Amino acid sequence: MAVLEIVMDPAPVLRQGTQPVTEFDDALQQLIDDMLETMYAVNGVGLAAPQIGNTLRLAVMDVSMERNEPVVLVNPEVVESRGRQLMAAGCLSVPGAYDKVERAEWVKVKAQDRHGNWFEIEGEGLRSECLQHEIDHLDGTLFLDHLSPLKQRRLREKMKKTLKARKRRKS
Ligand code: NI
Repeated sequence: MAVLEIVMDPAPVLRQGTQPVTEFDDALQQLIDDMLETMYAVNGVGLAAPQIGNTLRLAVMDVSMERNEPVVLVNPEVVESRGRQLMAAGCLSVPGAYDKVERAEWVKVKAQDRHGNWFEIEGEGLRSECLQHEIDHLDGTLFLDHLSPLKQRRLREKMKKTLKARKRRKS
């Protein structure tokens, strides 16, 4: 397994959308394991393939407190949703930038597991926010896109400062 480098906004790969996974082969298993390891290494609740520079329709998430409930979403789609909620949002590809985003309160998602078996997952609160956030990534959308142009500008400034501070720490 390997910790992969996370792609930052405004990388084009975050915007180009994804293609369905059709081969559930060893390469896919390796990619899923690497994405899980990467997500846990940076303490994220979710990670979508475009964020590691890959354009397959694939994401992983874990919204549990104990960090022991990995969910693999292959070819996920929202099939039902209800209500609206304002939820705090952030993204590994937009580090240091947080705001509240309005999304469906409850969603049901249909997806395949790592072996190609279809299943359904539903949830509200953080689970709902995370499912919608990761599926957005697979469609080339960032949480910033749900905010006003003014807020987007402010958050991109925050991100730049965060990245600069990171660089300083590293050098
Ligand atoms: Ni994200």
